[in-house]
Amino acid sequence: MGDSSSEDPVARVLAQFEQDTAQGTRSRSDFERLKGRFLGRDRGLVPALFANVKALPPSERAAFGARANAAKREIEEAIARLGEDLSRREQRAREASETVDVTLPGRRPRLGGLHPVTIVRRRIEQIFLRMGYSIADGPEIENDRYNFEALNFPPEHPARDSQDTFFVDRRASSPLLLRTHTSPVQIREMKKRGAPLKIIVPGRVYRNESVDATHAAVFNQVEGLAVDRGISLADLKGTVEEFFGALFGRETRARFIPTFFPFVEPGVDVAASCIFCKGRGCGKCKGSGWIELAGAGLVHPKVLAGCGIDPEEFSGFAFGLGLDRVAMLLYEFPDLRLLLDGDERFLRQFARQT
Ligand code: PHE
Repeated sequence: MGDSSSEDPVARVLAQFEQDTAQGTRSRSDFERLKGRFLGRDRGLVPALFANVKALPPSERAAFGARANAAKREIEEAIARLGEDLSRREQRAREASETVDVTLPGRRPRLGGLHPVTIVRRRIEQIFLRMGYSIADGPEIENDRYNFEALNFPPEHPARDSQDTFFVDRRASSPLLLRTHTSPVQIREMKKRGAPLKIIVPGRVYRNESVDATHAAVFNQVEGLAVDRGISLADLKGTVEEFFGALFGRETRARFIPTFFPFVEPGVDVAASCIFCKGRGCGKCKGSGWIELAGAGLVHPKVLAGCGIDPEEFSGFAFGLGLDRVAMLLYEFPDLRLLLDGDERFLRQFARQT
């Protein structure tokens, strides 16, 4: 070839084609560029060859035309092959990216978990279900009559001050409020079902509290109510001890200290022996050996009578337990607000428990 090839347009185009395809064609766009450069109708190098024909002496035209046609065929065929190669490679790449490697380990779905309050509520429900209680429920928007009056809190009674709440509608015949405790469900259930009766009532309650590590404006209680013939404070004590034993461990004891709630008589503050120091006194129980968890007492005769239950025939006990406090104790976290923040770093730690 040498010099003659650089002077001969057909040889030049073939040489150019060889050079351009020496590296192979990598991508679809490389290929399209190559194809346009040689075969493009307007500026393609191959069609341009034929423009030379007119400039040749007639005697050379036939030979030149034959060689140009041969070159054209050669280049067209080579480009067709390159196109097929490229399509095959693209197909293989598609298949590779779409294949599922069945030997890869599966991706574990992120499972949600139960909220610590739910875990504790369910444990408590199980304990009382075993003791023959059933589970009752009541509205969180309660009326003043059930939240206070039927529970022997007269209007303006100072005992209401400890349960300041959020009023929803003060104009209703009995003002509507967010219930401050689960005790109104005592009234609802006694009115509905009469005596004898054994229920627990887990539920959310509300108070107008300044929020800090141990006080929240929304929290959870479990109410307990047992009404039957001959119920005494000893039954309450035995029940609470059995409950604490099941929840915190058998060595746990219960302590009653007299206090006032208008709907019980007598009323008691209930404490459990400290589950950390077993009652010897430690930081968690502030050295006292006891941790206060509930209010309780014998149902006030006026409350029974108000629900149509004869206090001469029946007596009962009731207790109200702070569920969030129990969760704090069992799981040893320092701040009640963690229960409401929805922070996954906290909640994740309970995800495997049911
Ligand atoms: N309802 C009372 C409170 O929330 C607790 C309680 C319940 C006390 C039942 C006595 C009997 O403070």
